[in-house]
Amino acid sequence: MISLQTLVAEVKNLQPIPAVAGQLLAVADHPDSSMADIAKVIQYDPVITASVLRTCNSAYFGMKHPVESIKDAVNLLGVDQVIELALIKSGSQALGGSQKGYGLDAGEMWKYSVSSAILAKQVAARLSLKGKNTIFTAALIKDMGKVVLEKYVAQSSGKIADLVENQHFSFQEAEKKALGIDHAELGAMIAKMWKFSPRMVNIIRHHHLSDETKSVDKQIAAVYLADCLCMMLGGGVGSDGLAYRFKDQVMKELGFSAVDMSMIIADFGINMQEVEALLQMA
Ligand SMILES: [Fe+2]
Repeated sequence: MISLQTLVAEVKNLQPIPAVAGQLLAVADHPDSSMADIAKVIQYDPVITASVLRTCNSAYFGMKHPVESIKDAVNLLGVDQVIELALIKSGSQALGGSQKGYGLDAGEMWKYSVSSAILAKQVAARLSLKGKNTIFTAALIKDMGKVVLEKYVAQSSGKIADLVENQHFSFQEAEKKALGIDHAELGAMIAKMWKFSPRMVNIIRHHHLSDETKSVDKQIAAVYLADCLCMMLGGGVGSDGLAYRFKDQVMKELGFSAVDMSMIIADFGINMQEVEALLQMA
């Protein structure tokens, strides 16, 4: 069992996700926000701005005139893609390392998270859900509890393996049993300490739908479903993906059909290629 005091100290030592991510979400999913509001928030963070501009000015776009502002970037890429890029760039430092306790090498969890976020946004669009940027970001950062928990998972690997293999626990249930907290709860705690919205904290806390009653929350269900799809598509999920509970009633509750699923899988490859191309340029 890990004490709360230890966990709080660990979270304080983490490299945080820049505040711009939370501020961007607050305006991006607000119906009255304008493009200018969004540009203003991104501009406030010089590192993210520089990174977005560098991407826009890469050879990929072959621009005659350099893109010099976030407004120019929005004109080039469209507002949705600039928001996505800024959010992805915000999280990459904090979440791009290795999590050996989960069997994840450097960058593997991050790539999985980006894939999962793209899928979550596709699910949100397909079902016309509100708050698509919140859903995207929640899917992107939902596993951040693993950054702290991975060394404790490594220390308790024998116990966790026994619970999973011999007692039919899911990996998350085994984390909770062995360590007193699972990565979803810890992720919610981190999001709270970093002052993300209560909505975001709630989605992260329940992203595995460990509480059955939560499946009616469509945003949480969309993040959960995207996680399942991502696993089915073979993302670098690490050891916990081998002990995952798929709850098929979620598809029913969301009104998500087999056709929706195949359309999303068909579009995902192209969307992921675009994002990967953009990120490699930066
Ligand atoms: Fe998770």
